[in-house]
Amino acid sequence: MTATLTNPLRVGLRQERVISPQCLVIFGASGDLTHRKLIPALFDLFRQRRLPSEFAVLGCARRPWSDDEFRQKMEAALASKIADDPESWKTFSAGLFYEPVDLQKSDDLVRLGKRLEQIDRQRATRSNRTFYLSVSPAFYGSGCRALAGAGLLADPNRSRVVIEKPFGRDYASAQELNRVVKSCGQENQIFRIDHYLGKETVQNILVMRFANTIFEPIWNRNYIDNVQITAAETVGVEERAGYYETSGALRDMVQNHLTQMLALTAMETPGRYDPEAIRNEKAKVLQAARLADEAEPWNCCVRGQYGPGGNSSDPLAGYRQEPNVDPNSTTETYVAMKLFIDNWRWQGVPFYVRTGKRMPKRMSEVVLTFKEAPVHLFDSSGGGAPGANQLILRIQPNEGADFRFEVKAPGSGMRSRPVDMDFSYDESFGEPSDEGYVRLLADAMLGDPTLFTRSDEVEAAWRLYTPLVELIEQQPWQLPVYPYEASTWGPAASDSLLARDGLLWRRP
Ligand SMILES: NC(=O)c1ccc[n+]([C@@H]2O[C@H](COP(=O)([O-])OP(=O)(O)OC[C@H]3O[C@@H](n4cnc5c(N)ncnc54)[C@H](OP(=O)(O)O)[C@@H]3O)[C@@H](O)[C@H]2O)c1
Repeated sequence: MTATLTNPLRVGLRQERVISPQCLVIFGASGDLTHRKLIPALFDLFRQRRLPSEFAVLGCARRPWSDDEFRQKMEAALASKIADDPESWKTFSAGLFYEPVDLQKSDDLVRLGKRLEQIDRQRATRSNRTFYLSVSPAFYGSGCRALAGAGLLADPNRSRVVIEKPFGRDYASAQELNRVVKSCGQENQIFRIDHYLGKETVQNILVMRFANTIFEPIWNRNYIDNVQITAAETVGVEERAGYYETSGALRDMVQNHLTQMLALTAMETPGRYDPEAIRNEKAKVLQAARLADEAEPWNCCVRGQYGPGGNSSDPLAGYRQEPNVDPNSTTETYVAMKLFIDNWRWQGVPFYVRTGKRMPKRMSEVVLTFKEAPVHLFDSSGGGAPGANQLILRIQPNEGADFRFEVKAPGSGMRSRPVDMDFSYDESFGEPSDEGYVRLLADAMLGDPTLFTRSDEVEAAWRLYTPLVELIEQQPWQLPVYPYEASTWGPAASDSLLARDGLLWRRP
């Protein structure tokens, strides 16, 4: 009897999970993501002894590399990790193979099928396959069709496809891509990846909320005044201008990563910890989300673009001066917006979401600000009324959580002062958490879709932002890109968005 891919629903998600014998086929094996993220994540899994011995990686792309050339390139990509552990590399690299494949040529797919059969015999991978589409988004639909056409997705228990971001460019294109992808296989064969969901601290939002009794009773409009979700990067566009010029911050960060953080923060309690129960709740809350001002979106959304900055010893180019960027580009590198969620839990609570490049600090966090005490008996030592309590979920860096509350300031008076109760992953667990791709690659090969985005979630997220996408494309003057100096917190208009509600962005 041959083993099929693990079915997490059958083995139960709480048991020790074992990856079944299989071949991971990476399309785009010569690309940036493969050498920077995928192969290092696989090597980490190997060193953690989480890969079965009956395992192989088959790299595919158009260039005519041999197995040895592929191994040499991957060795260079892993140089720092291999230096500590050359023995592991020796064993791991014996399972790396390469086949030149053009996803647009059906003959190549037939040849791929034969090579996979050969690898099955060589490595005992038992016809179990995970196909990873690390190629341009233009190939997501046609790549699935090519795989299905070659009969490589025929057995839903033995074959899966992982699809990288971005999944669609707007609501209509996401719907169309879902239609194509679903015509090639079953929904449980499709793994739409969002690497933010691989982060320990993003998953911790669920555990904080649903494993503690103290938070859930106050996690609603009666106690929470507002929620801020931030993903700030210090880097500029780097070498990704070609892609970024067609994307911008809204598509690159908000529609996927920030929206996933929002969904986990705002979703209802799932009936149980299982993939469909979690994804049902995430889809439901996204369906209830809307722009704060749907009729006039420019009142609730601000776009920005970084200009030059830095100092004489370390000058920073503006976005328009970066290589391969149109000198008149109106692509946003910063976006901030205000959303509402029309359900019983969140009615009237603003969710402020922002992301930007060339910010002063790299950080991602979710900040829940609670309502102020109804009566202020004490003055704050800083003057005025005491500040509101805040729960800060730090996604990165210094992963952890922070609860801010008032205590009596030392001295003879009765003034209060805010203090922080801090939890840090590093201090508590002493070991750095895995890269998101380690967890997600393992989950995809295990067949556990909990941390992958289901078709209805993707569509709900695109439906939410498509009015903005269309406005930017059709009437760009309604949502101008305001310049901001590199290494500052975005344009002044973004501060005004909160100032109108008597609030400030949190400045860590
Ligand atoms: N890089 C990142 O940090 C990052 C982060 C998040 C998401 N992603 C997503 O991951 C995907 C890959 O990104 P990337 O940065 O690795 O792209 P990339 O460096 O441009 O690599 C693209 C790969 O696709 C291969 N390819 C092109 N046409 C092909 C065809 N017809 N058949 C088979 N292979 C073909 C290329 O190799 P040949 O030229 O040899 O065919 C190359 O290996 C993209 O969808 C991107 O949006 C990337």
